[in-house]
Amino acid sequence: MTPEEFRKAGREVIDWIADYYERVGEFPVMSQVAPGDIRSKLPDNPPHEGEAFGDVMRDIEDIILPGISHWQSPNFYAFFPANASGPAILGDLLSSGLGVNGMLWATSPACTELETHIMDWLVKMLDLPKKFLSSSNGGGVIHDTASSATLCALLAGRERATNYGSNKSGLKSELTVYTSNQAHSSLEKAVKIAGLGKDNLRLIEVDETFAMKSETLSAAIEEDLKNGKKPAFVCATSGTTSSTAFDPLPQIGKICKEKNIWLHVDAAMTGTAALCPEFRWVHEGLEMADSYCFNPHKWMLTNFDCDAFFVSNRKALLTTLSILPEYLKNKPSKSDAVIDYRDWQIPLGRRFRALKLWFVIRHYGIKGLKAHVRKGVELGQLFKSFVEKDDRFEIMAPAPLNLVCFRAKTSDEINEAILLKLNSSGKMYLTHTKLNNKYTLRLCVGSPLTEQSNIESTWHRITETYENEK
Ligand SMILES: Cc1ncc(COP(=O)(O)O)c(C=O)c1O
Repeated sequence: MTPEEFRKAGREVIDWIADYYERVGEFPVMSQVAPGDIRSKLPDNPPHEGEAFGDVMRDIEDIILPGISHWQSPNFYAFFPANASGPAILGDLLSSGLGVNGMLWATSPACTELETHIMDWLVKMLDLPKKFLSSSNGGGVIHDTASSATLCALLAGRERATNYGSNKSGLKSELTVYTSNQAHSSLEKAVKIAGLGKDNLRLIEVDETFAMKSETLSAAIEEDLKNGKKPAFVCATSGTTSSTAFDPLPQIGKICKEKNIWLHVDAAMTGTAALCPEFRWVHEGLEMADSYCFNPHKWMLTNFDCDAFFVSNRKALLTTLSILPEYLKNKPSKSDAVIDYRDWQIPLGRRFRALKLWFVIRHYGIKGLKAHVRKGVELGQLFKSFVEKDDRFEIMAPAPLNLVCFRAKTSDEINEAILLKLNSSGKMYLTHTKLNNKYTLRLCVGSPLTEQSNIESTWHRITETYENEK
């Protein structure tokens, strides 16, 4: 593709995306295709001769679009949001255009230095503990996902607990890991990958707000110590996936400090709320954490993938992950004056993700980002008030932010039927969870396009569907 052809095709694509955002509210929110529908429209074999760009774009419209669930729709309330935005898309495009690999400082100094700088900005913007600043012993790095960040934190915790391989008695099979039974499944996956054994993962009970019971955590640790185990890692969640429950970080942090256990805090979705001083309680006790992550790719208008991962002691992470083969050796790395982010993550290569975050922060400013969070919370609270005022329905968990867990006061089967009906109507996309063993509907507001009128018509449709299904 010549630069001239690229210019023309690029304009077409940007126009297409701009048009898409103008009509995204008109599509069925959840894709209505059946398994295999998309593949049945694709040719069996790849083209031998190159095709015209216009033909490819036509297939985007005719073949791909019907198979898209519209995460950016104003009526997307499923899972947690995965915000995209104009500045983030353009930042990502530039990253692709530059096509650099920022594995070492030397392979593109701006890629590393902008990332370090933006991670420091995030510490200031969210009022995170100063120990996460790059000027301290810690620092931040952009990972693809919270799952990767949690895995790296677990690996560093594992290595610290076994003296980075030098402690012969520190057998990995003795290490134990703790999290609540509401924690995200990525921790269980990380335990598997880290080779610690599922038997050594303790899923701690939760209280009536679905937050980890710190006294049960403490008892489980004591029991393990009595049995010759070595408690190594606790993952606390600030805003669980099921219901945005908040584990008590001050109490958990104290236990971890006393027992020298690595504490990782996962605030994948709700971390963004801390942009607003009135929601900074989500991080109460975070100063005791060894590591922390949240996803700007969920609620901070930065399209997937972008997880902000911070450690309080970068040495622990680097000792765990650093390997230096001959072909990567270079003068700046040797000098200790630079950061090589390849040592802060599992893959070697890395994209220039800081660009999209930089674009987002500069375009919206802290003020604009705060307004986005506040609007999501306001609309979440509006929806909660509708549920609370209707005795056919009940709220299933505390809902302080933008996620509301609710159900019709009837059987699980009817609640499930309501969800299926709502999603197949194409008018909204909700997901479910189980709370207190009851089938529970989840509605999470996060799209910048969602307005009060969307929440009102969504509620109207939910009650109407209930009346038809009950
Ligand atoms: C609390 C929590 N942790 C981790 C994850 C996993 O996120 P990712 O897709 O970035 O790995 C999620 C996803 O929703 C989450 O809610």
